[in-house]
Amino acid sequence: MASGAYFGRVVVVGADVTESSLDQLYKPHLQTLMRRTEQSLAASGFDALVIHAGSPPTQFLDDQDYPYKVNPHFKAWVPIVDNPRCILLVAPGARLKVLFYQPDDYWHKPARLPQAPWTAEVDLIAMNEPSKASDHWAHLGRVAYIGPDAFAAWADPTSINPPDLLARLHYDRAVKTAYELECMRRANELGARGHRAALAAFRRGGSEYEAHMRYLEACAQREEEMPYNNIVAYNENSAVLHYQHLERAAPASLRSFLIDAGAQYRGYASDITRTHAAFPSRFADLVEALDAAQRVLCNEIIPGRDYREVHLCAHRSLGDVMQRVGLTKLPGQAALELGVTSVFFPHGIGHLLGLQVHDVGGVMGDTLGNERRRPEGHPYLRLTRMLEPGVVVTVEPGIYLIDSLLAAAHADSRRAHIDWAVVEELKPFGGIRIEDNVVTTAAQPENMTRDAFARVA
Ligand code: GLY
Ligand code: MN
Ligand code: MN
Repeated sequence: MASGAYFGRVVVVGADVTESSLDQLYKPHLQTLMRRTEQSLAASGFDALVIHAGSPPTQFLDDQDYPYKVNPHFKAWVPIVDNPRCILLVAPGARLKVLFYQPDDYWHKPARLPQAPWTAEVDLIAMNEPSKASDHWAHLGRVAYIGPDAFAAWADPTSINPPDLLARLHYDRAVKTAYELECMRRANELGARGHRAALAAFRRGGSEYEAHMRYLEACAQREEEMPYNNIVAYNENSAVLHYQHLERAAPASLRSFLIDAGAQYRGYASDITRTHAAFPSRFADLVEALDAAQRVLCNEIIPGRDYREVHLCAHRSLGDVMQRVGLTKLPGQAALELGVTSVFFPHGIGHLLGLQVHDVGGVMGDTLGNERRRPEGHPYLRLTRMLEPGVVVTVEPGIYLIDSLLAAAHADSRRAHIDWAVVEELKPFGGIRIEDNVVTTAAQPENMTRDAFARVA
């Protein structure tokens, strides 16, 4: 166990890569991005690239801004996630130029110029007058721009977010650099700490809101720093796939707890779900069976595997689990074919993960952006690509008791294949999801989430 600092806060770091070796991974990361970008610029007819960090929109009829979320193309290059209006200039053969926004503003504290070791690899330039920024690239030929249109007054409209350039960059982004993988291991470790704290709150009888607050505290991250809104759901609420409330009072009877919550490290996300039963029951058995099935599915994350097959394999395996616990009356393969598994497992088995929780490029078949089709009858699968080393995916099977889907199945021929008494027994528990973040490697898959839980145990 090494120790280190996360964004200046002292937090024990369990990974065996220290802060300084993470910084050593940054230079090769930049080189990889530069190589990919040079190729993509040449292929799409550009000489250089400008990336704007973005700025938070202002609320309607108000002078308050929404939380700031940095342009993912920007944070791919530099770990600046909290200072809007910065600009990057990527020019083949030159060092990365970072125009760091430092306005004259006595209402706010202007961000300080970063001093971390990664800054040695870039040209970091303070900028207080963005209208003059284009002087930096005026001589560079045809310059592409990625960012909000509002900051591209200087640009020719055909060079603003050009789809063919974006497609190439999005496709390449699925394969992570060693630096990115290490950031994601750390995001997983922060998440694992949060999950332990939230579970302790649940076990003490605290409310959804309290479990959420303990989660944030253990991660040492503000709500707006989370890579997505935490899903913290007790009992029937856990049947709502993207449950968005936080009950302030604990229910009289605590039966189940589903928490889907991640964290970020230098702009890279983790996306972790765990489900807990409050006491022994058929539901608790189902959690255990789903957990075992999920571990087996994680072994499918290997090079050359078609992720669509992983999804269909998940249906077969969950179908078998459903039959074993008495929820359905037919084996997994038949349940898949008849659409019975989709009643209880209506989402995809997972997605790409990285700079964004649902990272771009999941259904791209090539750098041109041609779509790789989803299997018939599976419209919500977010990832249809072939797996290759460096690709990070989630593996997140779930079984839920969702009223509208159950009603639809009850009204058609699927009714005969479901044990409705077991449905009624399980309904008060809501649902189950178990979600890990898994790296495809040339050898065994690396389960960053289970590794992180083991480190913080
Ligand atoms: N947290 C959103 C998801 O699992 O996809
Ligand atoms: Mn996910
Ligand atoms: Mn999730």
